[in-house]
Amino acid sequence: MKNFVYANPTRILFGKGQIAALAKQVPESAKVLLTYGGGSIKANGVHAQVMAALAGRAVTEFGGIEPNPTYETMMRAASAARGAGADFILAVGGGSVIDGSKFLAAALKHDGADPWDLVTGAARIRGALPLGVVLTLPATGSESNCGAVVTHKGQGAKLAFGHPALYPAFAVLDPEATRSLPPRQVANGVGDAFVHVVEQYLTVPAGGMVQDAFAEGLLRTLVAVGPKTLADADDMEARANLMWAANQALNGLISVGVPQDWSTHMIGHELTALYGVDHARSLSIVLPAMLKVRRAEKRAKLVQYAANVWCLFDGTEDQRIDAAIERTESFFRSLGLPVRLAEVGLGGEAVPAVRANLEAHGMTALGEDRGVTPAVAEKVLAAAR
Ligand code: NZQ
Ligand code: ZN
Repeated sequence: MKNFVYANPTRILFGKGQIAALAKQVPESAKVLLTYGGGSIKANGVHAQVMAALAGRAVTEFGGIEPNPTYETMMRAASAARGAGADFILAVGGGSVIDGSKFLAAALKHDGADPWDLVTGAARIRGALPLGVVLTLPATGSESNCGAVVTHKGQGAKLAFGHPALYPAFAVLDPEATRSLPPRQVANGVGDAFVHVVEQYLTVPAGGMVQDAFAEGLLRTLVAVGPKTLADADDMEARANLMWAANQALNGLISVGVPQDWSTHMIGHELTALYGVDHARSLSIVLPAMLKVRRAEKRAKLVQYAANVWCLFDGTEDQRIDAAIERTESFFRSLGLPVRLAEVGLGGEAVPAVRANLEAHGMTALGEDRGVTPAVAEKVLAAAR
């Protein structure tokens, strides 16, 4: 295990009724820009609870942040924020609203030319407006990490970026706010969180016993509560565990001191940018194929994954690895997630197109050992057909 510093400054307020705690979390003198998506928060009562908790503060609203938030939309949000003199952003929604708001928070403190430079790395993030979150969709972990993914529609690019200034000050996680989620979004959330853990765990052994055991516990929890949440919308215990597991999956804890992969995510982002595939669905297609193609490099961890996540102890190592990959696919299928490109209507044309995009975005040495070159990515996509 390598040396590490672990510091996650986001305060979590977890549980039923915690939206009311906003009254204490948002400064009384704040000029708040409340950011949200397509309107689910108005239909399910979350917006009303937020407004009640913010009573007495100046609040301006900016809605219409789309899934896979765009630079174009968030530049309009920046004008609205400037017009209102906002000094605090409250993001109410899922990963898209939160990520778009992180970009906005950094853009509002950027005095250079085009804030898109903050995403590409052409300019440095030097600060951000304070950001708070009310989470409505357990999936990304964005509510307590400092990363974000934004799409530039004009350029057809979906890029990840991050900076410590982008950690939310606090995040409210009320499982009741997730009750209105359609089954597709619940399944997406479970799949996304599962792949987040895998990308930080299923690499090569690094002696991180705590990280490994925590990761395996999160994976087993997701396998248990994902189907329960889908089967019974009123199972609040399952919902609460899903929300906490998805948060812990990507708050930075399980990746400290150990290698990370993220190649499935980077390939998935290109599938979303090119074809609009939901983020989690791009991952459920790419991950099993990635494990097949990178079986030799990941062999030791695949054996560990087979034993500690899927309880596979019988047969040869190869049989256990085969079975673990098969279980992963069946788990995704049981949630209704696709595991082949054809299931989202894509054929062979996607393979060279994704490869070309990866090359254009400099994604040419991915994975824990930088071994996922464009040629390997092409093999992975071919295995996902
Ligand atoms: O826009 P509204 O009307 O709110 O509807 C949303 C949206 O249509 C709906 N929804 C959210 N909460 C709801 C609800 N509907 C009913 N009831 C509720 N309680 O769900 C739809 C999808 O929302 P979205 O925010 O797009 O989903 P998700 O949380 O999965 O976020 C996906 C985005 O996060 C990025 C992805 O790339 C994608 O752009 N990611 C961010 C990460 C990060 N910052 O750490 C890591 C991830 O790997 C991921 O890349
Ligand atoms: Zn993800």
